[in-house]
Amino acid sequence: MSTSRLKRNRRCGTVSLSDVGQEVCVAGWVHVNRDLGGLIFVELRDSTGRIQICADPAKNKEIHEKLCTLKSEYVIAAKGIVTKRPAGRENKESPTGELELYPDQVEILNTCRPLPFQLDQASSVNEELRLKYRYLDLRRPEMTSNLVTRHRITQAIRQYLDQQSFIEVETPILTKATPEGARDFLVPSRLNPGNWYALPQSPQLFKQTLMISGVDRYYQIARCFRDEDLRADRQPEFTQVDMELSFTDEEEIISVTEGLLVKAFACTGVDLKPPFQRLTYADAMARYGSDKPDTRFGMEIKDLTEVAANCNFKMFRGAADSGGKLRALVVEGGAESVSRKQLDIWQDYAKSTGAKGLAWLAFGPAIRSSGIDKHMTPEELEKLRTLSGAKQGDLLLLVADAEKAVANTLGRLRLKLAEELNLIDETKHELLWVVDFPLFEYDEQEDRLMAVHHPFTSPHLDDLEMLESAPEKARARAYDIVYNGVEIGGGSIRIHSQEVQSRAFTAIGLDLEVAGEKFGFLLEALESGAPPHGGIALGLDRIVMLLTGGKSIRDVIAFPKTQSGACLMTSAPSVASPEQLAELHVKVVEEKKNPAQPAQV
Ligand code: AMO
Repeated sequence: MSTSRLKRNRRCGTVSLSDVGQEVCVAGWVHVNRDLGGLIFVELRDSTGRIQICADPAKNKEIHEKLCTLKSEYVIAAKGIVTKRPAGRENKESPTGELELYPDQVEILNTCRPLPFQLDQASSVNEELRLKYRYLDLRRPEMTSNLVTRHRITQAIRQYLDQQSFIEVETPILTKATPEGARDFLVPSRLNPGNWYALPQSPQLFKQTLMISGVDRYYQIARCFRDEDLRADRQPEFTQVDMELSFTDEEEIISVTEGLLVKAFACTGVDLKPPFQRLTYADAMARYGSDKPDTRFGMEIKDLTEVAANCNFKMFRGAADSGGKLRALVVEGGAESVSRKQLDIWQDYAKSTGAKGLAWLAFGPAIRSSGIDKHMTPEELEKLRTLSGAKQGDLLLLVADAEKAVANTLGRLRLKLAEELNLIDETKHELLWVVDFPLFEYDEQEDRLMAVHHPFTSPHLDDLEMLESAPEKARARAYDIVYNGVEIGGGSIRIHSQEVQSRAFTAIGLDLEVAGEKFGFLLEALESGAPPHGGIALGLDRIVMLLTGGKSIRDVIAFPKTQSGACLMTSAPSVASPEQLAELHVKVVEEKKNPAQPAQV
């Protein structure tokens, strides 16, 4: 039973000039309370915006006294006539800035204890405090707006996929390990002592199974769980827009996804124009040193290996002779403007990425370099300049090493330079498909080939024979979608033949028996009339983060976890009681403490 007498009939932010003279009843939180020695002004806030409430002691003493007792974040309802503010008191910044309300009834619906931080100063308080008091943090208009944008985007996606004949199907959360390559979160089964569920890293196996069931076009706004090291764009639980289609190919999936992104981006006023650019993985690595290149700026990596292969400079020649590469970045106008100190910093940075060093060559009035010019002829130096496209006055930053190492260093250095030299046009929305990924990649830790996407990805049809002859060279029918240098999605055409699936498992040294234990049901299903199929999953949190201009996905997730996987508001994860553990047949092994070390607080 409601105890309040006043019943809200308008939201604060929706009161407009056409309401002047009308009686409205608004409700919300006291955002600011200003006593101007006589008149009192309260800014009342709800999820739609704010409206100014005023009281004049000369006209209504009782209401004035009531408003004087209000403190930040008290919850009130106020009923009165909407009036136009007197000239000079308007606030052009606010949508309701020309209006105010002199209520004749005010009801305090709830009080609020002193706040741990002021809402309008939250951007300067430490994030842990915001996460601990997330219910207060989410009251801030920026955060409310992020939640609303997320909702709008999700709605637009659902509507679009429905129009495209996709049906939304929910798949289990308590399930078996899924093959996405991260660590699983496990849940003990009380009814099956010693057995564990895994939380899904993605609905991959279920969505493929649904295709075999004849669902044809599936989607799900799916929660996924991955126990991996966290970064600004990673959470242990996150949301994918997950899709799978039958009787399909790359072109159809790319086109459906482009249509979806057009609708999603339109929610924040961004007008995308498909088809988006496509780049092969090999080109992306060679030209940008990354499989998720930021193409909002140029500074492409230039290949100078042919000069290295024919010169006498040991460092360059050695790399070329052992199958490596000499590649470079051109810093326009850098010959004069970049200081030695700056070069030292970039050299240190290159080393921190694993490079042996970073050579430089400045085409100033005289040629200066990190020593290269002592070992190379003027003709070779000139060849480096022309091949790299450098002009007089430019600076070359060069790395010679194995191809992967060169790409890694120059790719990361390219991004660092872009930031430091202000090369990124922040108004751009660059969408790009990266295609033709390798199917497998050598994993040093495991000392074997591993699937780059997952082991159900179909090899390129022209590369089927390579599964046995040169698996490391086989290309995958996989594609990633990249937005402004962030991977926002990825997918593939799947293997739908049990014979090819077995060959793919053999190529990565996955014993068929082990494969059978892990995903035997899928292998059986593949033999039971599996249609050709493929799909994609988009990272919803990342998309919303980028479209709201955020730097962290925590800002677009209502209740996110910290870098160490904790929820500061609920204090999860927490210790389970001995009774619970006994019921689950789980024993906690205490970590051995070193007696010489004092216990950590
Ligand atoms: P993938 O592993 O590439 O593909 O994931 C798809 C997209 O999900 C987002 N993403 C994340 N977002 C936040 N936090 C994380 N920890 C995180 N991990 C991934 C990324 C990524 O591009 N089953 C396949 C899809 C398929 O083949 O259909 C899959 O999950 O934006």
